[in-house]
Amino acid sequence: MSVNRAIIAGVGRCLPDYILTNDELEKYVDTNDEWIRSRTGISERRILKDPDKATSYLAEKAALEALEDAGVDASEIDAVILATVTPDYMFPATAALVQKRIGATKAFAFDLSAACSGFLYALTTGGNMIESGRAQKVLVIGADKMSAIVDYTDRTTCVIFGDGGGAVVLEAGDEGGIIDYVHHSEGDEACMLYQPAGGSVNPASSETVENRMHFLRQDGKSVFKRATEGMADVSLEIMERNNLTADDIAWLVPHQANLRIIDATARRMGLDKEKVMINISHYGNTTAATIPLCLYDWKEKLNYGDNLVLSAFGGGLTWGAVYLKWMKK
Ligand code: UT7
Repeated sequence: MSVNRAIIAGVGRCLPDYILTNDELEKYVDTNDEWIRSRTGISERRILKDPDKATSYLAEKAALEALEDAGVDASEIDAVILATVTPDYMFPATAALVQKRIGATKAFAFDLSAACSGFLYALTTGGNMIESGRAQKVLVIGADKMSAIVDYTDRTTCVIFGDGGGAVVLEAGDEGGIIDYVHHSEGDEACMLYQPAGGSVNPASSETVENRMHFLRQDGKSVFKRATEGMADVSLEIMERNNLTADDIAWLVPHQANLRIIDATARRMGLDKEKVMINISHYGNTTAATIPLCLYDWKEKLNYGDNLVLSAFGGGLTWGAVYLKWMKK
Protein backbone atom coordinates (compact mmCIF):
# COMPACT_ATOMS: atom_id res chain seq x y z
CA MET A 1 0.00 0.00 0.00
CA SER A 2 1.44 3.39 -0.94
CA VAL A 3 1.80 5.88 1.89
CA ASN A 4 0.70 9.50 1.38
CA ARG A 5 3.49 12.00 1.69
CA ALA A 6 2.78 15.46 3.13
CA ILE A 7 4.28 18.05 0.81
CA ILE A 8 4.37 21.85 1.05
CA ALA A 9 2.30 23.14 -1.87
CA GLY A 10 2.16 26.85 -1.03
CA VAL A 11 3.68 29.48 1.26
CA GLY A 12 2.32 32.84 2.43
CA ARG A 13 3.17 35.53 4.93
CA CYS A 14 1.93 38.69 6.60
CA LEU A 15 4.25 41.38 7.95
CA PRO A 16 2.87 44.59 9.45
CA ASP A 17 4.09 47.79 7.80
CA TYR A 18 5.44 49.54 10.90
CA ILE A 19 9.21 49.14 11.32
CA LEU A 20 10.50 49.47 14.88
CA THR A 21 14.22 50.23 14.59
CA ASN A 22 16.95 49.81 17.19
CA ASP A 23 17.29 53.60 17.20
CA GLU A 24 13.64 54.00 18.19
CA LEU A 25 14.05 51.46 21.01
CA GLU A 26 16.84 53.64 22.42
CA LYS A 27 14.11 56.17 23.26
CA TYR A 28 12.24 53.68 25.49
CA VAL A 29 14.98 51.72 27.26
CA ASP A 30 18.69 51.95 28.06
CA THR A 31 20.02 50.17 25.00
CA ASN A 32 21.83 50.91 21.77
CA ASP A 33 22.00 49.74 18.18
CA GLU A 34 25.52 48.33 18.56
CA TRP A 35 24.57 46.13 21.56
CA ILE A 36 21.41 44.81 19.92
CA ARG A 37 23.05 44.00 16.59
CA SER A 38 26.17 42.40 18.08
CA ARG A 39 24.32 40.36 20.77
CA THR A 40 21.28 39.31 18.70
CA GLY A 41 21.77 40.11 14.98
CA ILE A 42 18.59 42.22 14.96
CA SER A 43 18.38 45.66 13.29
CA GLU A 44 14.62 46.13 13.13
CA ARG A 45 11.33 44.34 13.68
CA ARG A 46 7.75 44.79 12.43
CA ILE A 47 4.96 45.88 14.76
CA LEU A 48 1.19 45.59 14.21
CA LYS A 49 0.20 49.04 15.46
CA ASP A 50 -3.49 48.99 14.56
CA PRO A 51 -5.28 48.25 17.88
CA ASP A 52 -8.18 46.65 15.97
CA LYS A 53 -5.90 44.01 14.44
CA ALA A 54 -4.71 40.95 16.33
CA THR A 55 -2.92 37.67 15.65
CA SER A 56 -5.88 36.41 13.60
CA TYR A 57 -5.23 39.23 11.11
CA LEU A 58 -1.61 38.11 10.58
CA ALA A 59 -2.73 34.47 10.32
CA GLU A 60 -5.58 35.20 7.90
CA LYS A 61 -3.44 37.21 5.48
CA ALA A 62 -0.65 34.62 5.52
CA ALA A 63 -3.16 31.79 5.01
CA LEU A 64 -4.85 33.46 2.05
CA GLU A 65 -1.51 34.02 0.35
CA ALA A 66 -0.44 30.41 0.97
CA LEU A 67 -3.71 29.13 -0.54
CA GLU A 68 -3.23 31.30 -3.61
CA ASP A 69 0.37 30.14 -3.98
CA ALA A 70 -0.77 26.50 -3.78
CA GLY A 71 -3.69 27.05 -6.17
CA VAL A 72 -5.99 25.58 -3.52
CA ASP A 73 -9.46 26.88 -2.66
CA ALA A 74 -10.16 27.38 1.06
CA SER A 75 -13.18 25.08 0.76
CA GLU A 76 -10.82 22.15 0.01
CA ILE A 77 -8.96 22.46 3.35
CA ASP A 78 -9.60 19.64 5.84
CA ALA A 79 -7.95 21.22 8.90
CA VAL A 80 -6.50 24.55 10.04
CA ILE A 81 -3.75 24.38 12.67
CA LEU A 82 -2.50 27.66 14.11
CA ALA A 83 0.62 27.77 16.26
CA THR A 84 0.67 30.84 18.50
CA VAL A 85 1.35 32.11 22.03
CA THR A 86 -0.60 35.33 21.41
CA PRO A 87 -4.09 34.10 20.53
CA ASP A 88 -6.82 36.70 20.06
CA TYR A 89 -8.57 35.24 23.13
CA MET A 90 -7.76 32.51 25.64
CA PHE A 91 -10.64 30.81 23.88
CA PRO A 92 -12.16 30.30 21.36
CA ALA A 93 -9.20 29.17 19.29
CA THR A 94 -7.86 31.82 16.95
CA ALA A 95 -7.70 29.09 14.27
CA ALA A 96 -11.51 28.93 14.34
CA LEU A 97 -11.75 32.69 13.69
CA VAL A 98 -9.34 32.30 10.77
CA GLN A 99 -11.20 29.25 9.42
CA LYS A 100 -14.39 31.27 9.21
CA ARG A 101 -12.81 34.38 7.70
CA ILE A 102 -10.95 32.57 4.90
CA GLY A 103 -13.96 30.38 4.07
CA ALA A 104 -12.45 27.00 4.94
CA THR A 105 -15.99 25.72 5.34
CA LYS A 106 -15.32 22.01 5.82
CA ALA A 107 -12.18 22.36 7.96
CA PHE A 108 -11.92 21.79 11.68
CA ALA A 109 -9.59 24.26 13.37
CA PHE A 110 -7.49 24.41 16.51
CA ASP A 111 -4.60 26.31 18.08
CA LEU A 112 -1.36 24.70 19.12
CA SER A 113 0.80 26.08 21.92
CA ALA A 114 4.49 25.27 21.72
CA ALA A 115 6.00 28.78 21.59
CA CYS A 116 8.93 29.06 19.20
CA SER A 117 8.70 25.36 18.30
CA GLY A 118 4.99 25.78 17.54
CA PHE A 119 5.28 25.88 13.77
CA LEU A 120 7.30 22.66 13.64
CA TYR A 121 4.91 20.87 16.03
CA ALA A 122 1.96 22.09 13.88
CA LEU A 123 3.65 21.15 10.62
CA THR A 124 4.26 17.58 11.73
CA THR A 125 0.76 17.28 13.27
CA GLY A 126 -0.72 18.30 9.91
CA GLY A 127 1.74 16.02 8.14
CA ASN A 128 0.64 13.04 10.23
CA MET A 129 -3.01 13.72 9.34
CA ILE A 130 -2.11 13.58 5.66
CA GLU A 131 0.15 10.54 5.95
CA SER A 132 -2.63 8.64 7.74
CA GLY A 133 -5.01 9.37 4.86
CA ARG A 134 -7.48 11.20 7.15
CA ALA A 135 -6.80 14.54 5.49
CA GLN A 136 -5.80 15.59 2.00
CA LYS A 137 -5.09 19.28 2.55
CA VAL A 138 -4.09 21.02 5.78
CA LEU A 139 -3.36 24.68 6.41
CA VAL A 140 -0.52 25.16 8.90
CA ILE A 141 -0.01 28.67 10.27
CA GLY A 142 2.49 30.24 12.66
CA ALA A 143 1.50 33.74 13.78
CA ASP A 144 2.29 35.94 16.75
CA LYS A 145 1.56 39.51 17.71
CA MET A 146 4.40 39.53 20.24
CA SER A 147 4.03 43.29 20.78
CA ALA A 148 0.82 42.46 22.69
CA ILE A 149 2.80 40.71 25.47
CA VAL A 150 6.21 42.43 25.29
CA ASP A 151 7.10 44.84 28.09
CA TYR A 152 8.60 47.89 26.39
CA THR A 153 10.24 48.92 29.68
CA ASP A 154 12.27 45.67 29.85
CA ARG A 155 15.40 46.01 27.71
CA THR A 156 16.26 42.33 28.02
CA THR A 157 13.16 41.25 26.05
CA CYS A 158 11.74 44.21 24.10
CA VAL A 159 14.69 44.37 21.71
CA ILE A 160 14.21 40.77 20.57
CA PHE A 161 10.60 40.25 19.54
CA GLY A 162 8.52 41.32 16.55
CA ASP A 163 5.13 40.59 14.97
CA GLY A 164 4.48 38.42 11.93
CA GLY A 165 2.65 35.49 10.41
CA GLY A 166 3.56 32.70 8.01
CA ALA A 167 1.58 29.82 6.57
CA VAL A 168 1.96 26.75 4.40
CA VAL A 169 -0.55 24.53 2.63
CA LEU A 170 0.27 20.86 3.12
CA GLU A 171 -1.18 18.41 0.63
CA ALA A 172 -0.94 14.72 -0.13
CA GLY A 173 1.75 13.75 -2.64
CA ASP A 174 3.48 10.60 -3.83
CA GLU A 175 7.03 11.29 -2.70
CA GLY A 176 9.21 13.65 -0.68
CA GLY A 177 7.66 16.19 1.67
CA ILE A 178 8.03 15.59 5.40
CA ILE A 179 10.42 12.64 5.73
CA ASP A 180 11.16 12.63 9.46
CA TYR A 181 10.92 14.69 12.63
CA VAL A 182 12.17 14.72 16.20
CA HIS A 183 10.46 16.74 18.93
CA HIS A 184 11.42 17.19 22.58
CA SER A 185 9.84 18.92 25.61
CA GLU A 186 11.01 19.62 29.15
CA GLY A 187 8.16 21.14 31.12
CA ASP A 188 9.92 21.61 34.45
CA GLU A 189 11.75 24.63 33.01
CA ALA A 190 8.51 26.44 32.10
CA CYS A 191 9.37 29.60 34.03
CA MET A 192 12.55 30.24 32.01
CA LEU A 193 10.32 31.83 29.37
CA TYR A 194 6.67 32.48 30.13
CA GLN A 195 3.76 34.85 30.62
CA PRO A 196 3.04 34.65 34.37
CA ALA A 197 -0.58 35.88 34.44
CA GLY A 198 -3.76 35.50 32.47
CA GLY A 199 -4.03 31.74 32.85
CA SER A 200 -5.66 29.79 35.69
CA VAL A 201 -2.64 30.07 38.05
CA ASN A 202 -2.74 33.87 38.13
CA PRO A 203 -6.05 35.02 36.65
CA ALA A 204 -6.18 38.69 35.72
CA SER A 205 -6.50 41.01 38.73
CA SER A 206 -5.43 44.56 39.55
CA GLU A 207 -2.42 43.00 41.29
CA THR A 208 -1.30 41.04 38.19
CA VAL A 209 -1.61 44.19 36.12
CA GLU A 210 0.29 46.34 38.66
CA ASN A 211 3.06 43.76 38.80
CA ARG A 212 3.33 43.63 35.00
CA MET A 213 2.61 39.89 35.06
CA HIS A 214 0.79 39.86 31.72
CA PHE A 215 4.05 40.53 29.90
CA LEU A 216 6.42 37.76 28.89
CA ARG A 217 9.44 37.11 31.07
CA GLN A 218 12.63 35.40 30.07
CA ASP A 219 15.76 34.24 31.83
CA GLY A 220 17.75 35.15 28.71
CA LYS A 221 21.11 33.67 29.71
CA SER A 222 19.66 30.27 30.70
CA VAL A 223 17.44 30.05 27.62
CA PHE A 224 20.40 31.02 25.44
CA LYS A 225 22.51 28.21 26.85
CA ARG A 226 19.75 25.60 26.49
CA ALA A 227 18.77 26.84 22.99
CA THR A 228 22.34 26.74 21.72
CA GLU A 229 22.74 23.14 22.87
CA GLY A 230 19.20 22.00 22.05
CA MET A 231 18.90 23.34 18.52
CA ALA A 232 22.28 21.97 17.50
CA ASP A 233 21.71 18.59 19.22
CA VAL A 234 18.30 18.02 17.62
CA SER A 235 19.58 19.09 14.20
CA LEU A 236 22.42 16.57 14.46
CA GLU A 237 19.96 13.94 15.71
CA ILE A 238 17.80 14.29 12.59
CA MET A 239 20.87 14.23 10.34
CA GLU A 240 22.18 11.05 11.96
CA ARG A 241 18.81 9.25 11.89
CA ASN A 242 18.55 9.93 8.16
CA ASN A 243 22.23 9.45 7.26
CA LEU A 244 22.45 13.05 6.06
CA THR A 245 25.83 14.72 5.69
CA ALA A 246 26.25 18.50 5.48
CA ASP A 247 26.70 18.06 1.70
CA ASP A 248 23.26 16.43 1.43
CA ILE A 249 21.52 19.44 2.99
CA ALA A 250 20.53 22.31 0.69
CA TRP A 251 19.25 24.61 3.46
CA LEU A 252 19.03 24.89 7.22
CA VAL A 253 15.82 26.72 8.15
CA PRO A 254 16.42 27.75 11.77
CA HIS A 255 14.12 29.50 14.23
CA GLN A 256 15.29 33.12 14.38
CA ALA A 257 15.83 33.88 18.08
CA ASN A 258 19.43 35.03 18.10
CA LEU A 259 22.03 35.03 15.31
CA ARG A 260 24.58 33.51 17.69
CA ILE A 261 22.31 30.49 18.29
CA ILE A 262 21.82 30.04 14.52
CA ASP A 263 25.58 30.29 13.87
CA ALA A 264 26.36 27.72 16.59
CA THR A 265 23.79 25.29 15.14
CA ALA A 266 25.16 25.64 11.60
CA ARG A 267 28.71 25.18 12.89
CA ARG A 268 27.86 21.96 14.74
CA MET A 269 26.10 20.66 11.60
CA GLY A 270 29.19 21.49 9.51
CA LEU A 271 27.13 23.75 7.23
CA ASP A 272 28.46 26.77 5.34
CA LYS A 273 26.70 30.00 6.19
CA GLU A 274 25.55 30.24 2.55
CA LYS A 275 23.21 27.32 3.26
CA VAL A 276 21.50 28.93 6.24
CA MET A 277 18.31 30.99 5.94
CA ILE A 278 18.76 34.12 8.08
CA ASN A 279 16.33 37.06 8.13
CA ILE A 280 16.44 37.90 11.86
CA SER A 281 18.01 41.26 11.06
CA HIS A 282 14.73 42.57 9.59
CA TYR A 283 12.03 40.80 11.61
CA GLY A 284 13.53 39.88 15.01
CA ASN A 285 12.00 36.88 16.78
CA THR A 286 8.41 36.44 15.60
CA THR A 287 8.03 33.23 17.69
CA ALA A 288 5.81 30.80 15.70
CA ALA A 289 6.25 32.71 12.44
CA THR A 290 10.03 32.66 11.98
CA ILE A 291 10.31 29.41 10.02
CA PRO A 292 7.49 29.99 7.49
CA LEU A 293 8.78 33.57 7.05
CA CYS A 294 12.16 32.08 6.07
CA LEU A 295 10.52 29.63 3.65
CA TYR A 296 8.67 32.56 2.09
CA ASP A 297 11.77 34.72 1.72
CA TRP A 298 13.76 31.87 0.15
CA LYS A 299 11.05 30.25 -1.96
CA GLU A 300 12.45 31.51 -5.27
CA LYS A 301 15.82 29.95 -4.41
CA LEU A 302 14.44 26.53 -3.47
CA ASN A 303 14.69 23.72 -6.02
CA TYR A 304 12.56 20.62 -6.47
CA GLY A 305 14.01 17.81 -4.34
CA ASP A 306 16.11 20.07 -2.06
CA ASN A 307 16.75 18.58 1.38
CA LEU A 308 15.79 21.03 4.14
CA VAL A 309 16.39 20.73 7.87
CA LEU A 310 14.01 22.91 9.90
CA SER A 311 15.04 23.44 13.52
CA ALA A 312 13.62 25.33 16.50
CA PHE A 313 13.89 25.88 20.25
CA GLY A 314 11.56 27.78 22.56
CA GLY A 315 9.48 28.15 25.68
CA GLY A 316 8.11 25.07 27.36
CA LEU A 317 10.89 24.19 27.01
CA THR A 318 10.23 22.74 23.56
CA TRP A 319 12.52 21.97 20.67
CA GLY A 320 12.57 19.95 17.49
CA ALA A 321 13.76 19.40 13.95
CA VAL A 322 12.08 18.36 10.71
CA TYR A 323 13.72 16.83 7.64
CA LEU A 324 11.73 17.57 4.50
CA LYS A 325 12.22 17.37 0.78
CA TRP A 326 10.97 20.44 -1.09
CA MET A 327 8.61 19.18 -3.82
CA LYS A 328 7.18 22.46 -5.06
CA LYS A 329 8.02 23.14 -8.71
O1 UT7 B 1 12.93 32.17 20.86
C1 UT7 B 1 12.71 31.62 22.10
C2 UT7 B 1 13.95 31.32 22.80
N1 UT7 B 1 14.64 32.53 23.18
C3 UT7 B 1 15.93 32.62 22.95
O2 UT7 B 1 16.51 31.76 22.36
C4 UT7 B 1 16.64 33.83 23.49
C5 UT7 B 1 17.87 33.41 24.22
N2 UT7 B 1 18.62 34.49 24.86
C6 UT7 B 1 19.27 35.46 24.17
O3 UT7 B 1 19.15 35.58 22.95
C7 UT7 B 1 20.22 36.34 24.93
O4 UT7 B 1 20.42 35.80 26.21
C8 UT7 B 1 19.75 37.81 25.08
C9 UT7 B 1 19.78 38.50 23.74
C10 UT7 B 1 18.36 37.87 25.68
C11 UT7 B 1 20.71 38.56 26.00
O5 UT7 B 1 22.03 38.50 25.49
P1 UT7 B 1 23.25 38.04 26.41
O6 UT7 B 1 24.44 38.14 25.59
O7 UT7 B 1 22.91 36.71 26.99
O8 UT7 B 1 23.27 39.18 27.49
P2 UT7 B 1 23.24 39.02 29.08
O9 UT7 B 1 21.87 38.69 29.54
O10 UT7 B 1 24.37 38.13 29.50
O11 UT7 B 1 23.57 40.47 29.53
C12 UT7 B 1 24.87 41.06 29.29
C13 UT7 B 1 24.83 42.52 29.71
C14 UT7 B 1 24.16 42.74 31.05
O12 UT7 B 1 24.80 43.82 31.69
P3 UT7 B 1 25.88 43.57 32.84
O13 UT7 B 1 25.15 42.83 33.91
O14 UT7 B 1 26.96 42.74 32.21
O15 UT7 B 1 26.30 44.94 33.22
C15 UT7 B 1 22.77 43.16 30.72
O16 UT7 B 1 22.17 43.93 31.70
O17 UT7 B 1 24.03 43.25 28.76
C16 UT7 B 1 22.99 43.95 29.46
N3 UT7 B 1 21.84 44.06 28.58
C17 UT7 B 1 21.69 45.03 27.68
N4 UT7 B 1 22.46 46.10 27.37
C18 UT7 B 1 22.00 46.90 26.38
C19 UT7 B 1 20.78 43.21 28.51
N5 UT7 B 1 19.92 43.64 27.57
C20 UT7 B 1 20.46 44.77 27.05
C21 UT7 B 1 20.05 45.65 26.04
N6 UT7 B 1 20.87 46.70 25.74
N7 UT7 B 1 18.91 45.48 25.36
